[in-house]
Amino acid sequence: MSEKAQLIIGGKTYEFPLVTGSEHEVAIDINDLLEKTGAITLDHGFKNTGSTKSAITFLDGDKGILRYRGYSIEELAEKSTFLEVSYLLIFGELPNKAELFKFTDEIKKHTLVHEDIKKILDGFPSTAHPMGVMASLFCSQTAFYPESLDPNRSAEGVRLSIVRSLAKMPTFAAWAYKNAVGHPVNYPDNSLDYCGRFLKMMFALPAEDYHVDPVIADALDKLLILHADHEQNCSTSTVRMVGSSKASIYSSISAGINALWGPLHGGANQEVIIMLESIRKDGGDVDKWINKAKDKNDPFRLMGFGHRVYKNFDPRAKIIKKAADDVLGKLGINDPVLEIAQRLEEVALKDSYFVERKLYPNVDFYSGIIYRALGIPVELFTVMFAMGRLPGWIAQWKEMRENKEPIGRPRQVYTGATPRPYVAIDKR
Ligand code: ACO
Repeated sequence: MSEKAQLIIGGKTYEFPLVTGSEHEVAIDINDLLEKTGAITLDHGFKNTGSTKSAITFLDGDKGILRYRGYSIEELAEKSTFLEVSYLLIFGELPNKAELFKFTDEIKKHTLVHEDIKKILDGFPSTAHPMGVMASLFCSQTAFYPESLDPNRSAEGVRLSIVRSLAKMPTFAAWAYKNAVGHPVNYPDNSLDYCGRFLKMMFALPAEDYHVDPVIADALDKLLILHADHEQNCSTSTVRMVGSSKASIYSSISAGINALWGPLHGGANQEVIIMLESIRKDGGDVDKWINKAKDKNDPFRLMGFGHRVYKNFDPRAKIIKKAADDVLGKLGINDPVLEIAQRLEEVALKDSYFVERKLYPNVDFYSGIIYRALGIPVELFTVMFAMGRLPGWIAQWKEMRENKEPIGRPRQVYTGATPRPYVAIDKR
């Protein structure tokens, strides 16, 4: 392949270098495009734009491949733990035993949040969506740890912020839930592991013993691993973009939580269950809903279907579909929406509308069914996604910072009015 790409504008040829990634993906380096040609690129939704070079996650949407730092998602989901995967994403290598113990211990030391956080929580009405509450509580760490605002913080200082983020996120998530149901908050129990601790903060009631069900804790750990990173998606790009202004890690990640919230991104997992429930209540006629999704005059979309980059299958969806069967079986739950989901998938995968557009179930299609089986309420589904995505956001923020990337600032093609005179109106 030629080492250069050629671009002809107004009869003049310009050359741009090609950049090749470690998995042989090719990019045209247009860093000096504007300077050389006076033109910019226009790419709505950044469908063809590489915003960075990254060594964290590789995915191939056509082949359905997802790897964190070179390790396949299938192997990690089967054999590793969420904290091990977090370490891998953030620090680049799997931890050895001593490193993992140290990391786990550091996290345990920071699970408590400042008591004044409760005052902030008390200010939210119980109608507040837990995603908004969590984003606010997460960002409030800038107030409790003002040293995190220093853009030139030492590596140890950054590590402390990373540990605090991972340690406190489950506490914020559980407290956001407690606020929604109007219950008193629970404090973290550090005798438990990461997921057990979260489950106890969520579900323990005053004066009652709470025992973590290992089936539930293991299923949750696997779900967190599957969500841990997904290269330059909407929320991750947001984290990098905000961080590029040298905003603190807490404000950058809080922005990522907000970006994840939307129904076209992480919010889809909540929408899937709402959709499946509506289909069930409507009599379970799957064909009717498939036709609605295909009708361009109907705003309805099949939630949990389609993906910006996966055009063959989403490897996470395959693992989650199997996990949904396992978990529901082990917990002895017979959820009628699982059957509706399976029928929807079966019909859609044979329908030419979905086949031609390469629309397959994505990670969110079955995750809600597992969350429901684990007792997680529907408004918390996207919060669970955020808990899982946290190490990815941290790793991407850290990489952006270490690579000394410039501030993110896209261009535009202006389509508004050309110069015109101001005509004063009589304001008296
Ligand atoms: N149901 C029905 N039709 C769909 C769906 C769907 N779920 N998804 C895409 N299409 C159709 C579009 O209408 C469009 O059709 P057209 O070519 O006739 O106009 C075509 O497929 C391409 O869709 P786009 O929206 O252009 O694809 P894009 O890559 O921009 O969007 C997205 C991807 C947002 C995920 C989309 O498929 C969607 O809205 N899915 C439902 C929401 C969802 O599940 N989101 C979670 C994504 S995974 C994640 O963020 C973790």
